[in-house]
Amino acid sequence: MTAFDALQKLTKRDNRRDFFRFPDLSHRVTLNGRTGSGKTQFGAWLLSNARFDLQPFIILNFKDEKLFHQIERARPLDYSDVIPDKPGLYHLAAPGVDPDLIEKWLWKLWNKANTGLFVDEAYLMPDFQAYKAILTTGRSRHIPTYSLSQRPVAIPRFVISEADFYISFNLNDKSDEERVREFTPGDHETYLLNRETKRLPRLSPFHSRWYDIGNDFSCVLGPCPDTNEILEKFERRLTPRQRMI
Ligand SMILES: Nc1ncnc2c1ncn2[C@@H]1O[C@H](COP(=O)(O)OP(=O)(O)OP(=O)(O)O)[C@@H](O)[C@H]1O
Ligand SMILES: [Mg+2]
Repeated sequence: MTAFDALQKLTKRDNRRDFFRFPDLSHRVTLNGRTGSGKTQFGAWLLSNARFDLQPFIILNFKDEKLFHQIERARPLDYSDVIPDKPGLYHLAAPGVDPDLIEKWLWKLWNKANTGLFVDEAYLMPDFQAYKAILTTGRSRHIPTYSLSQRPVAIPRFVISEADFYISFNLNDKSDEERVREFTPGDHETYLLNRETKRLPRLSPFHSRWYDIGNDFSCVLGPCPDTNEILEKFERRLTPRQRMI
């Protein structure tokens, strides 16, 4: 079963499945959704399919999210450490850290380049200057990013405008939906408003709207795999292969 087979789509038009692709090393991904909508789990699933076998990927865990602590083979990292060279997954538990330290660390990452960055609760970035540099030059510097946060209106516009993939789960606030619609195609079925309420139709639990900007492709995705499956995938991909003699 491919990863995409694990998703149940609302659409019955199965040929659309051919248009689905995972983000690669040149992409910036932004995910928004109200609390409990499933962003972190979905983001972890995307990350479990990322190319951390080719370059290092670092998880910036601002909320001390348990799921990331459960990735046993993710190596712990500290702000004082050099940005790693070796491919693999690294985990930087970030709550309550001096904002200057985070900003300096982000510049260090930007300078080093060739490193993936996954930020859960990206709105907690202390100062968006380094993050802006990372997002705006990420493609040429090979810094793929995953930026997760609850409200699209609570993050700077460039976090969405620089995205190559924009994923939105259900949102509570009308202003958040309006922000989503500023950056998504009004003529795609996925983003059509309900005629009476003038709001985006509610999605079923853990469903999301997926917009692949480069391919101008959007669809509604069903729930991603459960946490055990995601953790197993990390484990499998991070386990060093035995050399046959
Ligand atoms: N696809 C899914 N299938 C089953 N359960 C899910 C799925 N996605 C998320 N959940 C569960 O729902 C809960 C909330 O999910 P998650 O933490 O990913 O939400 P969130 O949007 O990141 O919330 P917050 O903004 O508060 O961090 C978790 O217990 C998670 O395991
Ligand atoms: Mg979360």
